[in-house]
Amino acid sequence: MKPLIIANWKCNPATALEAKNLYSAVVEGVKNIKEAETVICPPFIYIESLAGTPNIEMGAQDCFWEALGAYTGEISPQMIEDLGCKYVIVGHSERRRYFFETDETVNKKIKALLQTKLIPVFCIGETQKERESGKSEVIIRNQIIFGLKNIPGAKIANRLVVAYEPVWAIGSGNPCDVKEAGKTGQLILKVIEEIYNSDVSRKIKVLYGGSVNSKNAGDYIKKGKLRGLLVGGSSLKAEEFVALVKKTV
Ligand code: PGA
Repeated sequence: MKPLIIANWKCNPATALEAKNLYSAVVEGVKNIKEAETVICPPFIYIESLAGTPNIEMGAQDCFWEALGAYTGEISPQMIEDLGCKYVIVGHSERRRYFFETDETVNKKIKALLQTKLIPVFCIGETQKERESGKSEVIIRNQIIFGLKNIPGAKIANRLVVAYEPVWAIGSGNPCDVKEAGKTGQLILKVIEEIYNSDVSRKIKVLYGGSVNSKNAGDYIKKGKLRGLLVGGSSLKAEEFVALVKKTV
């Protein structure tokens, strides 16, 4: 199975020209790596000018849960789909932290995405404080249960991607140990199996994200048995990101 490597550019870079240059360098670098699926999630405003290159998929970093209407500032799944995107990240810890997203709003967004052909990349993970107080498992369990509330198994099988992103590992230079990330990946599948069944859980991809770089990327896939990676900082340097993708195949 091809590893799924998703670049999350977050609120970067500052200009459309820099975005174009970064994108072109990544496209060139990964064009012969057919054994991995590479996805770029730029800020919304750059998507249209970058989309449409073969061998690389486009994604968005967030979406709204309604299709249309009087919701100033929002972007709907239908608009994102129309631009040619394949994936949409939802519930990223930065959205939960700075924009007060909750499991309930994440659930609405996943449901809205499942009305389109877009694939939700559903982010979950515990904070440092939750980890230190031994609550990681219950936090992850609840994020999955409430994030997927009232969503039928048939809708998510072969459609949903879950990204395990421990909040303490994001942008910290302190990645989660490969064994621990792999164990949490198994826990996520077990919780999905408990909610639905093994037929659904085996069709879900679990990725890891948090301080991934070209040195540790291969281990999460090959030793940790994760199905892909969500990459922030290391996706902003084309050479580093291309080297990272190469390590996963
Ligand atoms: P990072 O971010 O790779 O910079 O740690 C990952 C993410 O937030 O998706």
